[in-house]
Amino acid sequence: MNIESKQSLHKPIRLGDLDLPNRIVMAPLTRMRAANPELVPTALHAEYYAQRASAGLIVSEGVFVSPDAVGWADVPGLWSEAQVRGWSTVTDAVHRAGGRIVAQLWHAGSLGHPDFHAGRAPRSASAVNPEQQSVTAAGRKDTVVPRAMEKDEIRRTVADFGRAARNAIAAGFDGVQIQGGYHYLFNQFLNVRTNRRTDAYGGSTQNRARFLFEVVETVVEAVGAQRTGIKTGPATSETGAFVSNDETLATSEYVIDRLNEFDLSHLLLMGAMTDLSATPLAPLATLAGDGMFRHFREFYRGNIIANVDMDRARGNRLIEAGLVDMVAFGRPFIANPDLPARFAAGAPLAEVDWPKVYGATAEGYTDYPSFQAVAA
Ligand SMILES: Cc1cc2nc3c(=O)[nH]c(=O)nc-3n(C[C@H](O)[C@H](O)[C@H](O)COP(=O)(O)O)c2cc1C
Repeated sequence: MNIESKQSLHKPIRLGDLDLPNRIVMAPLTRMRAANPELVPTALHAEYYAQRASAGLIVSEGVFVSPDAVGWADVPGLWSEAQVRGWSTVTDAVHRAGGRIVAQLWHAGSLGHPDFHAGRAPRSASAVNPEQQSVTAAGRKDTVVPRAMEKDEIRRTVADFGRAARNAIAAGFDGVQIQGGYHYLFNQFLNVRTNRRTDAYGGSTQNRARFLFEVVETVVEAVGAQRTGIKTGPATSETGAFVSNDETLATSEYVIDRLNEFDLSHLLLMGAMTDLSATPLAPLATLAGDGMFRHFREFYRGNIIANVDMDRARGNRLIEAGLVDMVAFGRPFIANPDLPARFAAGAPLAEVDWPKVYGATAEGYTDYPSFQAVAA
C-alpha cells in the first residue's frame, strides 16, 4: 500500500539490515489464539498479522522458547517443527502483504504457574513469589513460589533461546526480539527483590545481568546482531515484587549501556505505565512525559523504539526531537489494522472491544475493518 504522508512517523528507516517504509511499529501483543495442544499458530494468526502488514515492522506476540518457558495459556511456541511450520504460514502471509515481522522470544519464568508444568513450580532466579497473576487455561491465578534455576538449567535456557532464534529464521521471520523486560524471566534475574542468588548470577549488577547477556550473545551468534532486537527498561507495573527499588534504575542503565557493545537492530523501550512520581524512578517519567526516552537516549547509541500511550502527534514529536527513532503502538493496532493509513489521513481511531481481546476465535481479532471499508 502506498501511503502519502510527510509526517515523521512515515519516513523510511533502516533497522539493522532491514529497510522499513515507515517508523510505525506494531508492539508485541499476546492474543491467546493458539488454542491447540501443540501451541501452533494457525491460519487465523496469518490473517491477523497480514492485515497489519502496513506497519513498518511487526513484533509478534511473545512466543515461548521452550515448554519450560510457558506461562500464559494458548500462546504459540517456537521450539517444535509443527510450530515452525505454523509460523512459516504467518510470515509468508505478512511478506505477501508487503510487511516485515520479527518474533518476540519469551520466557515467563515465575509468571508461569504449576498448571503449565505438570504441577511443578515454574523456574526463576530464586524462590521468591513475584506476587502477580498468571493467565492459565482456567483463568487468572495467583503466582506461586518458583524454583530457583540450577546452573545447568540456566545453560539449557540460554541454548533454548538460541534454538528459538534459529527456528525463527527457519520459519521466515525477519529477525527476533528478546523479551528482556516487564515481569518476565530476565527481569526476575535483574531485580534484587526476585534474585537472591549468591552465585555468579546474583549479587552485583553485573552478575544479575549475566544471564541476559549470555542469551544476547547466543542469539546474536545464531542470527546476527542486525536481526536481533531487545525489549528492556525499568518500567513495569509497580506491583508486587516489581515495585521499583533503589537498584532498578541503575540496573537498567547498566544493561542498556552495555547493549551498545552488540550493535543490535533495536531497543524497544517502554515509557511509564503508571504514575512514577512517588517511586525511585520519579526523575525519569511522568505518565505522559518523555523523561524515559530523554534519559536513555543518553545511554543508547542504536535505534530506540518508544512505546506506551503513544498517539500520532506524540510519536511525530518524539522522532522530530531526536529522542527516538521509531514508535510502537500496541492497543491501537488491535482495533486499527491499517493504523499507518489512518495516521496519514488523520482518520479517527477505532476503539478496542476489550472482552474479545483474549479469546479463541476470529471475533475481536481479525474482524476490525480498515477505515476505508468503514467509510465505504
Ligand atoms: C493485550 C495485550 C497483550 C500484550 N502482550 C505483550 C507481549 O506478548 N509481549 C510484550 O512484550 N508486551 C505485551 N504487551 C504490552 C504491549 O506490547 C505494549 O507495551 C503496551 O500495550 C503499551 O503500549 P500501548 O500503549 O501502545 O498499548 C501487551 C499488551 C496488551 C494490551
